[in-house]
Amino acid sequence: MTSTSHGNPPPTWVDPQPSPLLLLLGNGSDTGSERGVDCPGALPAPSDPGLVERARAAKAALGDRVFVLGHHYQRDEVVEFADVTGDSFKLAREAAARPQAEFIVFCGVHFMAESADILTADHQSVVLPDLAAGCSMADMAGIDQVESAWQTLADAGLADTTVPVTYMNSSAAIKAFTGRHGGTVCTSSNAETSLRWAFESAERVLFLPDQHLGRNTAVMGLGMSLADCVVFDPRKPGGGVTPEQLRDARMVLWRGHCSVHGRFTADSVDEIREQVPDVNVIVHPECRYEVASRADVVGSTEGIIKTLTAAEPGSAWAIGTELNLVKRLAREHPDKQISFLDKTVCYCSTMNRIDLPHFTWAMESLAQGRLINQITVDDDTAHWARVALDRMLALPGV
Ligand code: 13P
Ligand code: SF4
Repeated sequence: MTSTSHGNPPPTWVDPQPSPLLLLLGNGSDTGSERGVDCPGALPAPSDPGLVERARAAKAALGDRVFVLGHHYQRDEVVEFADVTGDSFKLAREAAARPQAEFIVFCGVHFMAESADILTADHQSVVLPDLAAGCSMADMAGIDQVESAWQTLADAGLADTTVPVTYMNSSAAIKAFTGRHGGTVCTSSNAETSLRWAFESAERVLFLPDQHLGRNTAVMGLGMSLADCVVFDPRKPGGGVTPEQLRDARMVLWRGHCSVHGRFTADSVDEIREQVPDVNVIVHPECRYEVASRADVVGSTEGIIKTLTAAEPGSAWAIGTELNLVKRLAREHPDKQISFLDKTVCYCSTMNRIDLPHFTWAMESLAQGRLINQITVDDDTAHWARVALDRMLALPGV
């Protein structure tokens, strides 16, 4: 055997082989992409079928002691076990409304489980079946970065006239920051109401961490111009903007985004309109402004579901949000023509980390008396985050 100068055998090169399985996402045929290609045979079940029985048995053994929340982006195999499904706002409310449940098993991502812990009573424990289920957008705003941005605003003499508003997709520490500084939280279903509330007392809003939700709501909901918005980049000195730009801005948008919704482009909207002339385009407000402003409807996950449910039979819809939800909607509404707005696969990989094996493991552990993967928020952070969340929950019409 030959060896390298370090004495190790040389790596053996194997040419990549084509996958024996096509990426199968639906029915019909669309040879231009991997979507909508017929399945040539029976696909294996996504998980060991025995897990379904085990999860059912664990849930039955726990009875009313457990309440399972499922976000709309969760896999079907997990949604099947949810006592309630919803967007992040509805799930936060549902968690708060179950004081009798000892365990809240949150099938969603970390920031949602934190909010549930903040809104539930001390005797309740919130469990996230896989601790790696985070949100890359929430990770784009660290508390030290946000404190330093606030200092930049203070140095420019602007902190007193600025109110921070954070999207639900942020850590408890960021929510607490907004609570401490007279601000609030918003979700994709109430961002406009939250911003209107903030502007009752503020000249400008520091909007965290999703620049797209902030911009879309300010421009399309509140009638501001794009020039009213500046982007604050936490990796650049002074946020990459001058004190004058900050002073003149009405919306100071944190430079964060969702990598899943960032996949949709203005071209995808134009193309689908060419292919399906009467199509209605509906997108989540985490999509870029060029996409949201070309859409017919912009809505939260719950809003998208309600719109599709109320839509006329025979109507055509292209949906710009996470793929688990779009596939479920397509299945639930066979009387409507539903397509996915992107050409490529667009799952939220961290949401997808909650799978049946993790769910079963979490439920069986609880049934056996082992509290695992508990999400807790320290008392001070929880107090101030709750102040911000309660401000949101008290908003009219929310
Ligand atoms: P919703 O609030 O619409 O459920 O959105 C949460 C989310 O993470 C979307 O990416
Ligand atoms: Fe975060 Fe985007 Fe996933 Fe929502 S879809 S949880 S914003 S990464």
